[in-house]
Amino acid sequence: GTVVLAYSGGLDTSCILVWLKEQGYDVIAYLANIGQNEDFDEARKKAVHLGAKKVFIEDMRQEFVEQFIWPAVQANAIYEDRYLLGTSLARPCIARKQVEIAKREGAKYVSHGATGKGNDQIRFELTCYSLYPEVQIIAPWRLPEFYTRFKGRSDLMDYAKKHDIPVPVTPKNPWSMDENIMHISYEAGVLENPKNRAPAGLFQKTKDPSSCPATPDILEIEFKEGVPVQVTNLNDRTRHNKSLELFAYLNEIAGTHGVGRIDIVENRFIGMKSRGIYETPAGTILHHAHLDIETFTMDREVRKIKQHLSKSFSEQVYNGFWFSPECDFIRSCISRSQELVEGKVQVSVLRGQVYILGRESPKSLYNEELVSMDVQGDYEPSDASGFIKINAVR
Ligand code: ARG
Ligand code: SIN
Repeated sequence: GTVVLAYSGGLDTSCILVWLKEQGYDVIAYLANIGQNEDFDEARKKAVHLGAKKVFIEDMRQEFVEQFIWPAVQANAIYEDRYLLGTSLARPCIARKQVEIAKREGAKYVSHGATGKGNDQIRFELTCYSLYPEVQIIAPWRLPEFYTRFKGRSDLMDYAKKHDIPVPVTPKNPWSMDENIMHISYEAGVLENPKNRAPAGLFQKTKDPSSCPATPDILEIEFKEGVPVQVTNLNDRTRHNKSLELFAYLNEIAGTHGVGRIDIVENRFIGMKSRGIYETPAGTILHHAHLDIETFTMDREVRKIKQHLSKSFSEQVYNGFWFSPECDFIRSCISRSQELVEGKVQVSVLRGQVYILGRESPKSLYNEELVSMDVQGDYEPSDASGFIKINAVR
């Protein structure tokens, strides 16, 4: 039968490609461009060389930003109070396209290189089962005949040499990375000891905050329906209003100022705790700016309900349930809550921090007269006495 393999171009999935062929499958290699730093032409050549019947390299960047990152921004999505979900959001985007290819090419099988201990296997497979229920999934890292043969990297290297699989020329970092336009995650290897600090040279998207410029970039971020539609740099008037460019620009500015690094221990869905280091430059700026414009324009009680939805949404995304009835329902509620979330937020980006400087909105619920210490406005201070006394009844 035919199998569509989520191929990364790396050693693992290259070996998996050849191993699948060895098992008698026709292999279609599918590589999603999701904003990672990768030589896609080189990866295509490699997949063909390894014997892939077809190779599909799909530019998923705009879809990823608009259909996955934007809903996360609207939701203020955050897992266990800190992780902005960069990998979790990418998986359903990648797997949806994989399923589309499998159906189009008449492939009964899909395969991936995620390990048997992680979250990614769950996210990939729940997406596949949701969108293609009859599909059969081949997860080599969960097959005893595979993982007893490939016990470590040296087994993969030996196999690669035997099967004319190009092996990486640069020595491998002693940690594992997952990169897309939203973030890079670093886990495993020397990072598995949670006390070990991030080695020098680990971070790729952000500068070290302690050696960043001493002058801030001042940005104005405009939102409509809870989504950024324009970013203006007030220092030099640079302006962007297309989703992908705007997001890439925020990455650049945040990266320059060392914004978006975290080092956490998190709870994987499968049960264990794991240590992860993340850099999410643009996502961090947008998280702060959106929180600000949302509180400015949203009713207090709606906001409280929405906060609960946000927590559920973040867990669903982390656990791989993007394509589920409950997540679908919550996304539509969150999207409804964003109808009036619009306006401009001014922020300063400086030395690892995002400072809110001010905001304005045609949909503001802020009443300057009502809150003023200097004017009475449409408000009777003596009414507050009754309000307080009734609240004290209990
Ligand atoms: N722990 C993060 C998450 O579950 C990052 C996973 C990184 N995945 C990877 N294949 N390196 O979302
Ligand atoms: C993996 O197991 O493939 C990476 C870690 C994770 O999915 O959580």
